[in-house]
Amino acid sequence: MRAYYYDNVAGDQRLLHDSPPSQSVSEERLKELNVLHRNIPLAGHEQQLDRVMAERGYKHRDKIHVSKEGLGEIYESKIKAFFDEHLHEDEEIRYILAGAGFFDVRESPSDAWIRLAVEPGDLLVIPAGIYHRFTTDMQDDIEALRLFQDAPKWIAINRNAETESNVCRVNYLQSIGVTAVA
Ligand code: LAC
Ligand code: NI
Repeated sequence: MRAYYYDNVAGDQRLLHDSPPSQSVSEERLKELNVLHRNIPLAGHEQQLDRVMAERGYKHRDKIHVSKEGLGEIYESKIKAFFDEHLHEDEEIRYILAGAGFFDVRESPSDAWIRLAVEPGDLLVIPAGIYHRFTTDMQDDIEALRLFQDAPKWIAINRNAETESNVCRVNYLQSIGVTAVA
């Protein structure tokens, strides 16, 4: 996984958006934002994932395949919705099995986008309360495992003035030592 500041240049969301000079973001910086990443080789990933799930108290997983073939006519609208800036009240855990894509997470307090370019073997934990969005790359094809606690909580809460006082948002900012802006 490569992490870098999104260039904010207009153009297809599925492009790299990594204009020179590229500004890399370290795993240390990601940890400070509570974004966790680990590489688990595809061969034998099941056992390691079981361990991660036990550690984090996750009981379920399912597989999602985001592709034009898989989603048909709703593909374009889905891909746009995934790219709406949102947060969740639970962690979003993804393990990439095939294909590639980008998770963009908001750095606080800068409010800059950090782009995470994921590929097979990447395990990503996006904390509850962080603003983020997702897109495939130009290949329009990614397959991932989604890990979750009990019932799937896929509710995406799009960013707006009210999400700033959402308890998960406030807790998130507190956890990274950033004072919430009232
Ligand atoms: C999700 C990604 C799109 O919520 O962030 O599934
Ligand atoms: Ni999400």
